[in-house]
Amino acid sequence: MRYDAVLFDLDGTLTASAPGIFGSVQHALMQLGYPPLEDSKLPGFVGPPLYESFERIAGLDASQAEQAVAAYREHYEDSGLFRATVYEGIPNLLRQLRAQGVYVALASAKPIALAHRVLEHFGLTRFFDRVIGADPGRRESDKQSLLQDALPARYERAAMVGDRRYDMEAAKALGLDAVGAAWGYGTEAELREAGADAVAHTVGEAARYLCGEDAPAPRGFFISIEGLDGCGKTTQMNAVAAHAAARGYAVVTTREPGGAPVSEEIRRLVLDPEKSMCAQTEALLYAAARAEHVRQVIRPALEKGKIVLCDRFVDSSIAYQGGGRELGMEQVMAINAMAVGGTMPDLTLLFLVDARTAFLRRSNATALDRLERAGEAFFQRVYDAYARLAQSGGERFRCIDACRDIDAVTADACAHMDRLLAQR
Ligand code: TYD
Repeated sequence: MRYDAVLFDLDGTLTASAPGIFGSVQHALMQLGYPPLEDSKLPGFVGPPLYESFERIAGLDASQAEQAVAAYREHYEDSGLFRATVYEGIPNLLRQLRAQGVYVALASAKPIALAHRVLEHFGLTRFFDRVIGADPGRRESDKQSLLQDALPARYERAAMVGDRRYDMEAAKALGLDAVGAAWGYGTEAELREAGADAVAHTVGEAARYLCGEDAPAPRGFFISIEGLDGCGKTTQMNAVAAHAAARGYAVVTTREPGGAPVSEEIRRLVLDPEKSMCAQTEALLYAAARAEHVRQVIRPALEKGKIVLCDRFVDSSIAYQGGGRELGMEQVMAINAMAVGGTMPDLTLLFLVDARTAFLRRSNATALDRLERAGEAFFQRVYDAYARLAQSGGERFRCIDACRDIDAVTADACAHMDRLLAQR
């Protein structure tokens, strides 16, 4: 282990927070009757103390700057705070450090309550042993005293990761290693001049530096999305993907049948309305497509620590071929054992709409594939099989009533995923 304690800055290091910060700066200036700043001047506000930036960049005097900071904070706490995204790779870097038993702390110049709200909002709280921010009432805390407070009582070797010169200077003043986060708002030159011991251009590079080159990547998360044709699962999958990406996860979205070149060819065959085939052939083709997809796409992505969101997986075969085509759920599970080879979803989101509603939604579609042309009785059997799977399949299944408005359905789906992510 290289370090036994690692301290992080927040804005520009863990989160890309510029959009919210810029909006609140312009809002504050407007409220006080000053003209808005040119876009090119705004990046200077991320990182350094706000009072100083309002003086130095916007040319305000001390008392004007104080008013501007008050107006800024009001707007920022209201809406700016959450107009941010977590940099890709951050949750996995934090997981890796925790797995190595490293003490992890946050040292932010943000008021402490806001720092907590941001960590909570993005699901990051659980990774931190200690969270240090500016105390209410204090004008602005200098970085060095924040770092001092964030350090554990005892440590051998500690590093500070930050994206601005203030972070590097404070780290060096305390005898810590300074790791520059060049993915944030400072430049590599700024970080080096301020004494950075290392500069990482991506979060992955920082992870290799902090955790060691051959530290194993934490395993990713496999989430399958299931439901009747017409349940809206593709729309929901995209919304869930965006939610995960904003939390700093690398996301792969894929689908079955398909997802890999050979599997896409099988998809064309199996869904072709011109072809007729027996139910057994159909079931085996889906399984064959899956075997390839698991090995070419799903496993490699999970090994790299990504979230795999899969539009249909083995439960589709169990419900459609096992239930719909009446091959029997057990039998279809059995022929799929070799295809999945133990790679099963950590979470299955099952979007439930009744067979009739799904049928009505589908009948608005123009070109129906071979499966979608099956009758209502077929889809009722598929629905029943899904319901039985969810009942007996235990923990992995989360049923979501997909007859409600899209946003309510998305909120449920994202909450289920957040709970899964919080487990590791
Ligand atoms: P899907 O890609 O969800 O359809 P679309 O993109 O047209 O909305 O699925 C294609 C069809 O394949 C769908 O009717 C369900 C069926 N299917 C099975 O019958 N068994 C399976 O194992 C899979 C993965 C899909």
